[in-house]
Amino acid sequence: MGDEILVEDVIVDGSSPVGGSISVWTLNRPEKLNALNLKSHQAIKAQCMRAEADDDVRCIVIRGAPPPEPGEGKRQKPHAFAAGADISEFAGKNSDDVRPFFEDNAWEAVWNLSKPTIAMVDGFALGGGVELALACDIRVASERSTFGQPEINLGLIPGGGGTQRLCRLIGYGRTMEIVLSGGMVPAQDAWKMGIVNRIVAHGDLESAVMGLAEEIARKSPYTTKVAKRAVRAALDLPFSEGVLMERSEFVALFDTQDKEIGVRAFLERSNADWVGR
Ligand code: COA
Repeated sequence: MGDEILVEDVIVDGSSPVGGSISVWTLNRPEKLNALNLKSHQAIKAQCMRAEADDDVRCIVIRGAPPPEPGEGKRQKPHAFAAGADISEFAGKNSDDVRPFFEDNAWEAVWNLSKPTIAMVDGFALGGGVELALACDIRVASERSTFGQPEINLGLIPGGGGTQRLCRLIGYGRTMEIVLSGGMVPAQDAWKMGIVNRIVAHGDLESAVMGLAEEIARKSPYTTKVAKRAVRAALDLPFSEGVLMERSEFVALFDTQDKEIGVRAFLERSNADWVGR
């Protein structure tokens, strides 16, 4: 595999079950504003399989590599989470060429992870880039970030789930404006609309995200998955079915060791040493 994404598993001190880590994936094509090419998708999909299978991974953070120092006489490239799919891979392609790729893509691989995911956005999150952030459970952005679905300017529409995930997140009218205008949405506006959970100064972004990831990584890894599944069901199920589904997940948790561990830890004012089942 190439170096399209860099992976670091950060051990969470005091995690239980012991050995828990946050897997930090850095999109690593800063010269191209971390645009997602075929190899990036393959690398992300491979990491999704690895993270899903590795019990130690409790939470996943996706970020973009910062721009390199400009060469002599060259201008500094902007910060980016990812400025979209790699447009250079679109030229001259027809539907038969791109269909297999879009049917098995990184956006759905991230979306289908059972473990919690956070997008750490510093800079441009456009097109397939914002769609990758939308495929995460939580988005935290720096104040200098910019969001958008500019595909309309290429004679395209979002193809990584953007129309659907954005609509569920911020509603029909706002999604229509973003998708039809292809315009840029500054971080403040993105926060007001609910595209991002929080915005922080860019110097505080990493500590804010890693702090949140640590908080999540210290919960029972079994229960975080159940919680994610229950909230996710709200996107697909009619309300009354969703409430029933939540209730059945809640009741089933009473057969887990971690429920007993958590409740006893509260009553005894001690730390919960989760076992993950
Ligand atoms: N695909 C491929 N390459 C991309 C890219 C993308 N989505 N976005 C940026 N790049 C490349 C540029 O071609 C440029 O490469 P070069 O230095 O080798 O020429 C480099 O990244 C820097 O981008 P540049 O356009 O010079 O930076 P800028 O500061 O002038 O503009 C943007 C920044 C984000 C406004 C602009 O790059 C842009 O509009 N990108 C495309 C966004 C888009 O349409 N995404 C949806 C794709 S489906």
